[in-house]
Amino acid sequence: MGLWSWRVLLAALAGILFFSQHCRASQYVGNYTFMQNASSAANISYYDYIIIGGGTAGCPLAATLSQNYSVLVLERGGSPYGNPNISNLAAFGAALSDTSATSPAQRFISEDGVINSRARVLGGGTCLNAGFYTRASPNYVRDAGWDGKAVNESYEWVEKVVAFEPQMKQWQTAVREGLLEIGVLPNNGFTFDHSYGTKVGGTIFDNDGHRHTAADLLQYANPNGITVLLHSTVYRIMFRIKDGSKPRAHGVIFRDESGHKHKAYLNHGSKNEIIVSAGALGSPQLLMLSGIGPAQHLKDHNISIVFDQPLVGQGMSDNPMNAIFVPSPLPVEVSLIQVVGITTNGTYIEAASGENFAGSSSRDYGMFSPKIGQLSKVPPKQRTPEAMRKAIELMNNLEQVAFRGGFILEKIMGPISTGHLQLQNRDPNENPSVIFNYFKHPRDLERCIEGIGFIEKVIESKAFSPFKYENMPVSLLMNLTASSPVNLLPRHTNSSVSAEQFCRDTVMTIWHYHGGCQVGRVVDRDYKVLGVESLRVVDGSTFNFCPGTNPQATVMMLGRYVGVKILKERLGAAPAETM
Ligand SMILES: Cc1cc2nc3c(=O)[nH]c(=O)nc-3n(C[C@H](O)[C@H](O)[C@H](O)COP(=O)(O)OP(=O)(O)OC[C@H]3O[C@@H](n4cnc5c(N)ncnc54)[C@H](O)[C@@H]3O)c2cc1C
Ligand SMILES: *[C@@H]1O[C@H](CO)[C@@H](O)[C@H](O)[C@H]1NC(C)=O
Ligand SMILES: *[C@@H]1O[C@H](CO)[C@@H](O)[C@H](O)[C@H]1NC(C)=O
Ligand SMILES: *[C@@H]1O[C@H](CO)[C@@H](O)[C@H](O)[C@H]1NC(C)=O
Ligand SMILES: *[C@@H]1O[C@H](CO)[C@@H](O)[C@H](O)[C@H]1NC(C)=O
Ligand SMILES: *[C@@H]1O[C@H](CO)[C@@H](O)[C@H](O)[C@H]1NC(C)=O
Ligand SMILES: *[C@@H]1O[C@H](CO)[C@@H](O)[C@H](O)[C@H]1NC(C)=O
Ligand SMILES: *[C@@H]1O[C@H](CO)[C@@H](O)[C@H](O)[C@H]1NC(C)=O
Ligand SMILES: *[C@@H]1O[C@H](CO)[C@@H](O)[C@H](O)[C@H]1NC(C)=O
Ligand SMILES: *[C@@H]1O[C@H](CO)[C@@H](O)[C@H](O)[C@H]1NC(C)=O
Ligand SMILES: *[C@@H]1O[C@H](CO)[C@@H](O)[C@H](O)[C@H]1NC(C)=O
Repeated sequence: MGLWSWRVLLAALAGILFFSQHCRASQYVGNYTFMQNASSAANISYYDYIIIGGGTAGCPLAATLSQNYSVLVLERGGSPYGNPNISNLAAFGAALSDTSATSPAQRFISEDGVINSRARVLGGGTCLNAGFYTRASPNYVRDAGWDGKAVNESYEWVEKVVAFEPQMKQWQTAVREGLLEIGVLPNNGFTFDHSYGTKVGGTIFDNDGHRHTAADLLQYANPNGITVLLHSTVYRIMFRIKDGSKPRAHGVIFRDESGHKHKAYLNHGSKNEIIVSAGALGSPQLLMLSGIGPAQHLKDHNISIVFDQPLVGQGMSDNPMNAIFVPSPLPVEVSLIQVVGITTNGTYIEAASGENFAGSSSRDYGMFSPKIGQLSKVPPKQRTPEAMRKAIELMNNLEQVAFRGGFILEKIMGPISTGHLQLQNRDPNENPSVIFNYFKHPRDLERCIEGIGFIEKVIESKAFSPFKYENMPVSLLMNLTASSPVNLLPRHTNSSVSAEQFCRDTVMTIWHYHGGCQVGRVVDRDYKVLGVESLRVVDGSTFNFCPGTNPQATVMMLGRYVGVKILKERLGAAPAETM
């Protein structure tokens, strides 16, 4: 190769390096010209697509449709940009522990008693979550009836903007080596792909610990084709009802940050649509508020029925999470999830560590802090505000060294157990009531027990031994995780907790709840709502099972995937249509 060619090659390499450092890692500042507060909206406006919820699925969907059509995004929360609670990994938990009405996280407690959280911010769950980024398995893609090639292209479109390789440090490395040692094989290295064995997955945090969210996918939007209204809460979808044809969605009623009412309608054109991407709680709730749901339940709330659909709000699931805290004699890094063991037993092993998690000077357990509602020390039904307060107080009084260590957690696949969602009132700002029925199906419980078995083995592995005190057997660690002075009721007479009891008593959420508008029940395979026209649901509420080990990659992918499919179909169907 001549000198000249070498120079070209080097210049190209330098260019690639420059691009990867300056474009990939720089955090988007979110100064979108098309984003504004809802109060600036006209009383009445018209669009080709109205997307309800600018969350994990809504943002990529809106960005895609805006290439060729006029799109309105209505997001009840504010902007994630400029909020350090959202932008920084070290602040994980800050937003989740803020229970004020303006918090980007809205807390809810399921009827099971497990304390949980849902997003209320542009970017949705990606602004609150632990960042782990991993694709669905090829089997999941096939079972969903998706086109594999288009799915891969959609994942890549997402990954270019939000996915990174994590920096592995000592503690996460020990968990990985432990998983390999106990036979969770093969070693799949770093990959987004879902296959059996142990891997390092992706993350939406870059190497500076900055979060990249679904809102960043709006960089792909056509600025002339999109309007994003913040602080706009949708109260109802409006339908045009004509005898002899299905009710057709044609507009929405929303309120701005000052409480003023606005209406947005679809432009004329039979292909224009309203798309609900309000998440697993918001989407079934909004369908019911709009008259699509179980007739008797709607009647009880004085909601006029548009379509009697008993399956709205059914099939709600939350994958149970159980974890064991392992105090460490050695310092550990602050880490959220980086490694996962995908076992053939239907359980996924993940882990998080940190000595001083909350970012500030406070002592905290990050993903497992009672401040964010995680409380494994008392059984779900006993997680009262009083118990929470005591747990937080207790935590605040512990010595710093008590926080040195990490949690090894397990999440079961599926799950098989399901529950349901119901309205409590007609206010979309308030949570509906939901029950997930954790471990109702015996297979779910079996999977949990086997998962605890894997965690035990990792803790006892040679590779993990530097991060564990020698004199602390797993039975003691489980006992420590499951009981505390906070728990005033007498515990089981056994000296150590059985794995079954441990699963039930220490169950927490990993926030992967889904369902309520499932494919094949409430929507068809194109995500069109059955029984009505011009309405789809695209988000985690459509899932029958949680995709991959963690869902966010697939939720973002789905937004892009459905958007591309809609564009392709319209281009093929009616090229001369008004836009
Ligand atoms: C704390 C936490 C940690 C997690 N960790 C991970 C992880 O590490 N990896 C992973 O893959 N997944 C993780 N998840 C799960 C993942 O983030 C969610 O499954 C995903 O974000 C859900 O996307 P969605 O589009 O279904 O809903 P959302 O992203 O919640 O979007 C719904 C949007 O609709 C808006 N909305 C609702 N109702 C209305 C209304 N009436 N009017 C207007 N707007 C409305 C909401 O404000 C919200 O922005 C985590 C989630 C949480 C909360
Ligand atoms: C947005 O911010 C970036 C980085 O600060 C800047 O380069 C860009 O010009 C800004 N765009 C607008 C429309 O203000
Ligand atoms: C938008 O509304 C929010 C909430 O009321 C407010 O905090 C913010 O200042 C408003 N922004 C602008 C630009 O008016
Ligand atoms: C918009 O609606 C408000 C009431 O919600 C009303 O006071 C105002 O006059 C309306 N503006 C226009 C331009 O119609
Ligand atoms: C950040 O979180 C803290 C603790 O929950 C809260 O007090 C503060 O108001 C939050 N800040 C922002 C900008 O939301
Ligand atoms: C999609 O990508 C995965 C790897 O991520 C690969 O296994 C699969 O074969 C690809 N599917 C298609 C249809 O290209
Ligand atoms: C429904 O309407 C009836 C009659 O107007 C009223 O008595 C009842 O309280 C209403 N119920 C609800 C849940 O709003
Ligand atoms: C996983 O399943 C295999 C096969 O059924 C079983 O032998 C093994 O004990 C299980 N592992 C754990 C940790 O329970
Ligand atoms: C577990 O805790 C109970 C009290 O809650 C105690 O009686 C028992 O000895 C402990 N078991 C182990 C193995 O430490
Ligand atoms: C004690 O634990 C064992 C196994 O862990 C279980 O079989 C037994 O039923 C338990 N006894 C009580 C009283 O909980
Ligand atoms: C979208 O618009 C672009 C140019 O703006 C055009 O090339 C493309 O064919 C259009 N696609 C669809 C699906 O309408």
